[in-house]
Amino acid sequence: MSLLSRKISELQERTAKATQGGGESAIAKQIAMGKLPARERINQLLDHGSFFEYDLFIEHEAREFGMEGKSLAGDGVVIGTGTINGKPVAIYAQDFTVAGGSLGMMHARKITKIMDYALRMRIPLIGINDSGGARIQEGVNSLAGYGEIFFRNTMASGVIPQLSVILGPCAGGAVYSPALTDYVFVVDKISKMFITGPEVIKSVLGEEIDMESLGGARVHSEITGNAHFFAKSETECFQQIKTLLDYIPAHNECKATKGKVVAPDKKFKVEKIVPVDPTSPYDVRDVIRAITDGSEFFEVQEMWAANIVIGYGRIDGRTVGFVANQPLVLAGVLDCDSSDKAARFIRYCDAFNIPIVTLEDMPGYLPGIDQEHAGVIRHGAKLLYAYSEASVPKFTVILRKAYGGGYIAMNSRHLRADFVFAWPTAEIAVMGPEGAANIIFRKEIMEAEDSDAMRKQKVEEYKQKFANPYVAAAKGYIDSVINPAETRKYLIHALEVSSDKVVKRPNKKHGIPPF
Ligand code: HXC
Repeated sequence: MSLLSRKISELQERTAKATQGGGESAIAKQIAMGKLPARERINQLLDHGSFFEYDLFIEHEAREFGMEGKSLAGDGVVIGTGTINGKPVAIYAQDFTVAGGSLGMMHARKITKIMDYALRMRIPLIGINDSGGARIQEGVNSLAGYGEIFFRNTMASGVIPQLSVILGPCAGGAVYSPALTDYVFVVDKISKMFITGPEVIKSVLGEEIDMESLGGARVHSEITGNAHFFAKSETECFQQIKTLLDYIPAHNECKATKGKVVAPDKKFKVEKIVPVDPTSPYDVRDVIRAITDGSEFFEVQEMWAANIVIGYGRIDGRTVGFVANQPLVLAGVLDCDSSDKAARFIRYCDAFNIPIVTLEDMPGYLPGIDQEHAGVIRHGAKLLYAYSEASVPKFTVILRKAYGGGYIAMNSRHLRADFVFAWPTAEIAVMGPEGAANIIFRKEIMEAEDSDAMRKQKVEEYKQKFANPYVAAAKGYIDSVINPAETRKYLIHALEVSSDKVVKRPNKKHGIPPF
């Protein structure tokens, strides 16, 4: 055997040892839980044969609590680079079979190394989380590791897309890395995210709670809004990641690639989807599908705050972000959660040069003590801030109702929309005709012989005067009142003429958004 052959076989032996994970029984346990081993996850997600792994031979340096001399393959995390649909990405995947994927100092260094690469190379970063949190035996070194990750998450925010995939426990302070990233993917029955686990809750509060009800995939998709994409299996989750990466650009100084232009499916016709009666519901996603190439729409946070719809589609081959009131849920009102949801998405689109299309049909902000006490003033302000701050091309189409504060908040001319189009069915007013008539004509209604008839007459008067797009159009707050069937045509042109948009903003370190 030549010297080179001996060296190569030593490398092969070392590689086999470093990639064996936590051993056969730990891997069998992982698979029995419906979870894939770390490298298999990476290989399924990335283009076949594209993965290059680094820091395979990293060793931990812990000495306490029986760690001396204990070898942990790769220190419980796999890092590397590869491609998805031909586009480069950086990735790490925690390996739960090795010490529960717990994060020690060297484990953290591997993650921060790949984060640094991603930022330097300006490519998306994908983190697969499957970990028991800070490695208890390594004490403050583990905590320091988290701090280094959080700092990098923050520095990379708005520069490269950061995707967190929760494929197991993500416990304790570890959840703050996904929370700092752009998109969180969860899988039913597999993902668990919580700050304090069931055991701590039991000892402190004396309450018994299972992990699923505490922080399972559904909890974070429907209740907390921490997750953006819910999947039934890891395979479905990987498909979602690929689709998302297809829509968004690789970094903040490039535009998304222009795809093939495909006409919308003829079965979606805007004029047939939206009832003229402003109180009749419809699914605004069908309106989006009537506008987008191939009628495709990739929805974000579908299960949370469903009274507003956000997501990606393409118009004439270009990616746009949609923000649309959903009359199907709570009549599409704005509230705390829907304001948060839309505001964050707008900021994402703005950071990554993605034009924003707003479809408006809502009766205003949700009234009531619950919303007031939940902070609707502060949360609602986020939406105003996000739209005002956004400098990407931003267009609004008013389909029907645009009442009160909602009219202003939903990317009005006054927040610097580039184009505002309204359908002839649009109603732009301080509030709905019934409420308005009851307030301003209260005396006449009360004093009339037939109050109901007088109310009806006054409502009708108000509607004639204000419940239409022409008062706003007469002031130039609306650029064009358009035939609904021509919505896509108008948006294509708006995108064309605004592709080199520039705006100047006052010089500042940063604003103080109502976080
Ligand atoms: C060291 C850990 C560990 C940890 C798990 N393991 N978590 N080792 N530090 N944090 C080890 C276990 O000892 C076990 O090792 C192996 O991983 C598998 O764990 P199991 O408990 O057998 O698995 P399972 O029953 O599936 O339970 C998974 C789990 C549980 C729910 C995640 O392990 C757990 O509750 N871990 C602690 C979670 C937690 O509270 N972490 C927060 C830490 S504080 P062996 O050798 O037996 O196979 C924190 C603060 C960070 O993270 C703050 C940053 C700001």
